[in-house]
Amino acid sequence: MDTVDSTNNYAANLLKESDVAEGTVVMAQFQTEGRGQRGSKWQSARGENLLMSVVLKPKRMEASGQFAISQMICLSIVSCLQQTWNLPAAIKWPNDILVGGQKIAGVLIENAVRGNTIESSIAGIGMNVNQVSFSDDVQATSLHKLTGNKSEPETILRELLPFIGQFYGLILNSRELEKRYLENLYGFNENLWYKMNGDEFPAHITGLGPHGELQLQKATGEKIECGFKEIELLGKSS
Ligand code: BTN
Repeated sequence: MDTVDSTNNYAANLLKESDVAEGTVVMAQFQTEGRGQRGSKWQSARGENLLMSVVLKPKRMEASGQFAISQMICLSIVSCLQQTWNLPAAIKWPNDILVGGQKIAGVLIENAVRGNTIESSIAGIGMNVNQVSFSDDVQATSLHKLTGNKSEPETILRELLPFIGQFYGLILNSRELEKRYLENLYGFNENLWYKMNGDEFPAHITGLGPHGELQLQKATGEKIECGFKEIELLGKSS
């Protein structure tokens, strides 16, 4: 589509109004109310980037295992960038995609939960494709910045979908998903600086908790586990 408020909202309305098929993809050139994680806005210049949402209806998936959807979408993007574009992409916990320490894509998963199970899920993906200037407060990059070439966002969508299909096949295989997620996680087994409750400290990621919590060991030896809004990764220095 040309313009929507948010492709995630559009997909949510499709789900409300009709029995929309799993795998339906909504893509737009421009969003008037693009949304990011933690209530932030997702801004993207018209026609420059990939703005898409895919509707998923995982079967027999408990609400407590919903982080698997983030994992499989992040793995799909990272694998596409690594294999199709030969870029050293990595996942920044919980669901940002980085190349060279700069953000190239973000993921916003919104689930409809009934009882204890996931009825449907909307996986929203924003990937910087042709945009080359970003506001100073974000450390962002794009395919164009990294390769010097422009691409059609729809071409990137078509490259990405087979990866989503492949990793969706692992959605109930939490062990395999976690293994691959950790293999591609920025800061796994590497000392980086984090900020938590106003405190800055070096630590390395040791693993994930049962619901995707981040487990870290501080340079002092102390082990901690934190939820999604509790910690910020600062980078190689404080
Ligand atoms: C983030 O990193 O904060 C997540 C960004 C997710 C942005 C995408 S763009 C397509 C879809 N529609 C939205 O409103 N948000 C997601």
